[in-house]
Amino acid sequence: MDSIRVQGMAPLQGKVKIQGSKNAALPILAASLLIEGQVLLENVPKISDVYGMLHILEELGCHVRWERELLRVDSRRAKLGGISAELAKSMRSSIFLLGPMLSRFHEVTMEYPGGCVIGKRPIDLHLEALRRMGVQFVDENGQLRASVKALHPAALELPFPSVGATENVIMAAVKTEGVTLLRGAAREPEVQVLCEFLNSCGASILGIGTNFLRIEGVRHLRETRFRIPSDRIVAGTYLLAGFSCGGSMFLEEAPLRHMEAVCSVAQKMGATLTVSENGIYAQFPERAGELPLVRTNIYPGFPTDLQSVLLAVRCTGRGKTLVQENIFENRFRIIDELKKMGACFRMVNEREVEVTGVPKLLGASMEARELRGGAALVVAALGAKGESRISGRRFIDRGYENICRDLRELGARIVSE
Ligand code: EPZ
Repeated sequence: MDSIRVQGMAPLQGKVKIQGSKNAALPILAASLLIEGQVLLENVPKISDVYGMLHILEELGCHVRWERELLRVDSRRAKLGGISAELAKSMRSSIFLLGPMLSRFHEVTMEYPGGCVIGKRPIDLHLEALRRMGVQFVDENGQLRASVKALHPAALELPFPSVGATENVIMAAVKTEGVTLLRGAAREPEVQVLCEFLNSCGASILGIGTNFLRIEGVRHLRETRFRIPSDRIVAGTYLLAGFSCGGSMFLEEAPLRHMEAVCSVAQKMGATLTVSENGIYAQFPERAGELPLVRTNIYPGFPTDLQSVLLAVRCTGRGKTLVQENIFENRFRIIDELKKMGACFRMVNEREVEVTGVPKLLGASMEARELRGGAALVVAALGAKGESRISGRRFIDRGYENICRDLRELGARIVSE
């Protein structure tokens, strides 16, 4: 089956190793099309979105091989080809192929990447920036067809620091002769890691970590071996889960320097965090302390990908919390599911919800409809009285290697069915 069963109220106690970052790995895999030779990647998470991207790369003629914990990708034999519809639709991250394929093949035809329950997920910022570099887009039988005689450098500015649009511009520009400037670039750690990966292959990207990137095109990108950093959203999910049922945990290899906002919120809610060189030790209060307001924001603000998990935790926190979602327009879908457990919400408007903490939630049967909302339902179930069942595990598997294994290592009573 495709569900998860949880016996709630087991205090967490234990340690778990944090997997590699989904949102760092996906653009880096797309960027492997730019490298003449093999790319050896360490710590790539074994999740369905990565398998989907690898399937697309193989369809394009890349040679992909797992060697235990090492992933070897060789794109030397890659050729221009269509990207299968079901894969492109099922995985929004297929949009990351635009930049590398235009750089290498000067054209690509793909399904419009699927929107999802958290929002329409438009790609206008991607298209506008690439048009400025000479790309033409046409709609061909409902598919997006992009072509360019030769990409040219440009001085670009993103009106909103879109992570994906920033990454597509970087990948389109790294082998485009001349200097491309990108103002208003996203600063998320995953963007920084993509730049570090490309520079390790010989690219010339300056301004990494700032919102102003200078990319000077180079003729060749050479083979490299690169380690994907740990996933800050998976680490943040487990850190916040500790408030559901109390206890303590050690998050091994948690990427602390990319987790300032979530650690700050955890401390405000009463967690004691002790940092060591290879992770974070966290001790939790019986009940999450007051937290009047949380706003999601671009990095380094509180990440939108942890908003649902925080909402779940606040269902049994002390007092009221106003949660403001400023990145996606439809990221409160799990409220109806959490209400089945007895949670108390007041919708202020489509971007704001007020949650009033209750002493305990009750186990219930719920349905996951997207990745982070599904993880949030699991987190809520950990602290609930009685048994919960969450269907739609496939959505959670898109980003978590094995959420049941990880949480069991922390002492949770949880099985997948
Ligand atoms: C990336 O998505 C992540 N996905 C998302 O993680 C993450 O939530 C998001 O960045 C924000 O941090 C991957 O990296 C694979 P955006 P992306 O472009 O690139 C609007 C997860 O759970 N927008 O920064 O799609 C958009 O609608 C996922 O791991 C436009 O209007 O995010 C949204 O409201 C969920 N036009 C906002 O910008 C565009 O052309 C942020 O989108 C592009 C985006």
